[in-house]
Amino acid sequence: MQTIASTKASKAWHWFIGSLTNHQSIRAYFEPVIQMALPQWRSDLLRSRVVEVRHESQDMFSLVIKANKRFQAFQAGQYIELTVEKDGAWLSRYFSISSSPEYFKKTGLIELSIRIQSHGKITPWLPKALKAGSLVNISKAMGEFTLNPEHQSVCMIAGGSGITPFRSMLQQMNLKPNSNDTQQDITLLYYARSSEHFLFKKEFESFANQNSNFHLQLIDSEQLGNINGSHISLIEQLNSDTHFYICGPTPMITLGRKILSDLNVNNAHIHYEFFGPEPLSTDLQNDNAQVLFGRSNKQVVSTSNNQTLLELAENHDLKPVSGCRIGVCHQCICQKKSGVVYNSKTKTYSDTGAQEIQLCISVPVNDVVLDL
Ligand code: FES
Repeated sequence: MQTIASTKASKAWHWFIGSLTNHQSIRAYFEPVIQMALPQWRSDLLRSRVVEVRHESQDMFSLVIKANKRFQAFQAGQYIELTVEKDGAWLSRYFSISSSPEYFKKTGLIELSIRIQSHGKITPWLPKALKAGSLVNISKAMGEFTLNPEHQSVCMIAGGSGITPFRSMLQQMNLKPNSNDTQQDITLLYYARSSEHFLFKKEFESFANQNSNFHLQLIDSEQLGNINGSHISLIEQLNSDTHFYICGPTPMITLGRKILSDLNVNNAHIHYEFFGPEPLSTDLQNDNAQVLFGRSNKQVVSTSNNQTLLELAENHDLKPVSGCRIGVCHQCICQKKSGVVYNSKTKTYSDTGAQEIQLCISVPVNDVVLDL
């Protein structure tokens, strides 16, 4: 006959096994325990080694990384999360992979080409702090900004460091002299703020010299201005079947979409990825929404339509946990007790009651109470 003690032991064992099998790995199972000591530790980050820090231009550098064995294949155009430890804190940022999947297959290496943001917390520090042999954490590859091989006529529009996913795509296409591999007709319209800011210029010029299906247009914005309709209308290779892929700063994407739509380009032919939340609709009226940070007992007023709850909290000396600040890592999740918020990523409004929200992409619409 089974004793009460053995029944309890058996239940505990089944709970333990059940808990384990609900997780994808033993690492994921122990994640909450490890996070008690290291709050931002995550089982999905892959420790990898820097092989080279390469200076590309005055304000750009490339990190060449030997990816951890658990890092699997990626598609040209995707990005990863890079997490580094600075002054005892873990900081994360998202960067497109600028090298090709084929290069990774042959060497196990990936390259991230990074613009130094003069007031940034991480990018000015990275090239000084990292060297060959340094360890960094990378995530698996993410993102859907990839080139559809069925699009026969393609116009890539890049602004500044938005060139990086296109470099990966172009390298992957293996542009060789008279190659039949590339059936797609590709035009790259590349904007940089002055002639010395074109990244990978020699490489693109060599692609253009070697392959008649690839056309390069370098636009020096200092001389020729920012993206406008005439730059696009003058491209001979474009036709009604052309698909446009845009990557660059948010104002450029917004303007580029408007210009293409004014040129009657079918919406389904315009592909872009905001590297961060899409700008908020100006219709959103939330001036003077009151936000109560319940645990800190601070009541503040939102005075701007575009201010996220994360910014609002930080502007009032609160320090909520955050990582990517673009709605991807979920580190800024917080319990909303009441009130309506607008999610700038999904473009949806919340319910009025209690629910979890991401502070970095949520904007208060009316009075909101947070458990923060
Ligand atoms: S900070 Fe990453 S989702 Fe908000």
